[in-house]
Amino acid sequence: MSLASVSLAASEGAAQAFEVRPFAGRVGAEIIGLDLSKPVNSVDFARIHRAHLDHHVLVFRDQRITPEQQIAFSRRFGVLQIHVLKQFLLTGHPEILIVSNIIENGQSIGLGDAGKFWHSDLSYKELPSLGSMLHAQELPSEGGDTLFADQHKAWDSLPEALRKAVEGRSAAHSYTARYSETKFEGNWRPTLTAEQLAQVNEVIHPVVRKHPETGRKALFVSEGFTTRIVGLPEDESRPLLAELYAHSIREENIYRHQWQPHDLVFWDNRSLIHLAAGCPNHLRRKLFRTTIQGDAPF
Ligand code: SIN
Repeated sequence: MSLASVSLAASEGAAQAFEVRPFAGRVGAEIIGLDLSKPVNSVDFARIHRAHLDHHVLVFRDQRITPEQQIAFSRRFGVLQIHVLKQFLLTGHPEILIVSNIIENGQSIGLGDAGKFWHSDLSYKELPSLGSMLHAQELPSEGGDTLFADQHKAWDSLPEALRKAVEGRSAAHSYTARYSETKFEGNWRPTLTAEQLAQVNEVIHPVVRKHPETGRKALFVSEGFTTRIVGLPEDESRPLLAELYAHSIREENIYRHQWQPHDLVFWDNRSLIHLAAGCPNHLRRKLFRTTIQGDAPF
């Protein structure tokens, strides 16, 4: 560390003694001993940024933070994206999407089945998400896990024939691809208004993208939002996508997050796809999500 960065860090607040503990043999790492309710100086921030690029999903334990603090920390990574489902944005804090199966007065308080299919957040936008942060508010006593699958490993281990079939190709992504399908018991999805539909027109992205910060290649298709491979007839596109999906979620590429109270999980949507495993409907689950805008995939 240079003298200049030491004195800059000092003027921004004290360094925090925290540890980055990678999960053995898996994508992801735990961050222990960092308190996000306190200022994070630029030296600590650079360590977190590096760990995020290296491990793709970071689990910050025991974060007693407010929505304002979650928003402020998220903003340090980029511009925040406002979810199209305005119904489920936290009052006074539209940067936060409420992910919840809780029904109050006959109304869902949040998106109850967010993540029911594997996906990368907002891949249906021209500028998909760099990363998302999910902060636990209320957790069920059973289930409710979130699974993350490493798409760099998926690409690196893709059989040669599949690589050849997809390299240089693009795929269409759409928010409405699986919108009305319900995998869980509840049906939490409101009908999209014309205004909402206009915000989620189909977009085209490369099937294999390069991470803009590390240069590593990753598969960038998912059952949640990808609808077709551009330029292939439907009867070729569908089986090819099915093979890619099966490969992208191989057991060895997956970290399964079992939530603990006050966890804040921050993942890289350019490197991973994720899935909400679901929990029994009668058990309450509520999390706050912020979503950081990324670059156009290339
Ligand atoms: C999401 O896809 O953002 C939600 C994941 C979860 O609820 O576990």
